[in-house]
Amino acid sequence: MTGHVTVVDHPLVQHKLTLMRERETSTAVFRQLLREISQLLAYEITRELDMTTRRIETPLCPMDAPVLAGKKLALISILRAGNGLLDGVLELIPSARVGFVGLYRDEETLQPVQYYFKVPEELEDRLVIALDPMLATGNSSAAAVDLLKKAGATNIRFMCLLAAPEGIETMRQAHPDVPIVTASIDERLNEKGYIVPGLGDAGDRMFGTK
Ligand code: URA
Repeated sequence: MTGHVTVVDHPLVQHKLTLMRERETSTAVFRQLLREISQLLAYEITRELDMTTRRIETPLCPMDAPVLAGKKLALISILRAGNGLLDGVLELIPSARVGFVGLYRDEETLQPVQYYFKVPEELEDRLVIALDPMLATGNSSAAAVDLLKKAGATNIRFMCLLAAPEGIETMRQAHPDVPIVTASIDERLNEKGYIVPGLGDAGDRMFGTK
């Protein structure tokens, strides 16, 4: 991909995102909209995948038809909100391999600490798409990408629903080689680290927790 950040400003994405932002949107509708948007973001983030051809027979004649080249790509959900993007992307790319990265924030050091890490083998040969709906401070996203690189990944893209300018800057400094695809760059973070105007806590809204 060219450019560090791609904002998918397609009207369907923007309309669905507005519905997600609304306070009164139910958990069920929020989750469904996230699934739908994740597929539209996946369409964009996979736009330049390598292709090859395979000899096939149509009912009329043989042809060399385009197919995806290389190893199955790896989708990495950054827990727990990443799972909301994962479901939809997997529907679109059912043969993708799947991994999970769990990080929590140490309340004293404020640094992300890993509590779970399980990723597919041969990450170095795959396109790796890290999934997290909210790129807020960017600290946990940057830490998750660090872990993926340590595990061998060299070709990583980051998919989110909303990004704060602060998070984009953190990622740009830590991982300038990782393109970001998002539905919106919002105004700012508030003092609690929430994206404004944002949509609240994505995990709580998709799972119905508080
Ligand atoms: N995580 C969320 O779920 N929401 C925000 O606004 C920021 C981080």
